[in-house]
Amino acid sequence: MNKAATKTGKLRHFLQLADLSQSEIQYVLNRASLIKDKFKRYEPHHPLHDRTLAMVFEKASTRTRVSFEAGMYQMGGSVIHLTTTDSQLGRSEPIEDTARVVSRMVDLVMIRTFEQTRIERFAEHSRVPVINGLTNEYHPCQILADIFTFTEHRNDIEGKIVTWVGDANNMAYTWIQAAELLGFTLHVSAPPGYRLDPVRIASVKAGVVKEFSDPNEACIGAHLVTTDVWTSMGYESENEERRKAFADWCVDSEMMSRAAKDALFMHCLPAHRGEEVTAEVIDGPQSVVWDEAENRLHVQKALMEFLLLGRLD
Ligand code: CP
Ligand code: NVA
Repeated sequence: MNKAATKTGKLRHFLQLADLSQSEIQYVLNRASLIKDKFKRYEPHHPLHDRTLAMVFEKASTRTRVSFEAGMYQMGGSVIHLTTTDSQLGRSEPIEDTARVVSRMVDLVMIRTFEQTRIERFAEHSRVPVINGLTNEYHPCQILADIFTFTEHRNDIEGKIVTWVGDANNMAYTWIQAAELLGFTLHVSAPPGYRLDPVRIASVKAGVVKEFSDPNEACIGAHLVTTDVWTSMGYESENEERRKAFADWCVDSEMMSRAAKDALFMHCLPAHRGEEVTAEVIDGPQSVVWDEAENRLHVQKALMEFLLLGRLD
């Protein structure tokens, strides 16, 4: 057990995108491509034989659960699924104690939870790598899959313009880290009251993020337009206020027409047609949301392999 350390013996966590360097992201995405090709050819790929992944969900999930669970089994390992309600976490066992115990029994942990500090506390007391499966602050696995999807369709993302329309949420802040690491520009348009927190972006290099009050303007020249729900998990009590505030931040054909001719549309899903995006756009020819969702599987397999085995080249 606890065969987690890589060849170099160094324990690596993936709590935010910036925990990987630019070249490590490139390595993981290249590996994902190889793993995806093998999957499509029904070729077995079992580098994690005998390894166990524990998944801890303190919020709901479809894609993250299925992609991690299927991915670990496909790589020869096994999975334990825990939620707040069916574990002692829901009865106030400290996260530090849960980390100490779970990480003595498994090789890898994925957590979806609320505050980033909660996953950081877990990681601090874990003997094995911890992966962020979404927190209030970040959703790094999703952005890895989004970058991979962009690359599959349009090659390198470096030098491109990505437009974020909507809430300055966990996805938006992870896009910012991606833009800094991979060298593209992020246009962001959010309604008043829901814009980026100046404190959180204070150290972002000048020119990486450009903010727009008009979402149509933010889309001008974009190679990728992307959005997310108006209300993220954990903020449901603000639903009504948000519906009013975000009414003009719905990605529609008008916005897409301002973007580059071959611009893609992405959404991490689940989506609400008629709120943050029209059915015409999400179900239209520029949308790659189903590839984007599928790629969670391939990219996370590469990520798990990297965290447990290190670079294999
Ligand atoms: N995009 C995403 O993380 O989906 P789930 O909430 O279904 O896991
Ligand atoms: N921003 C959304 C993403 C869901 C995958 C949320 O946190 O609920």
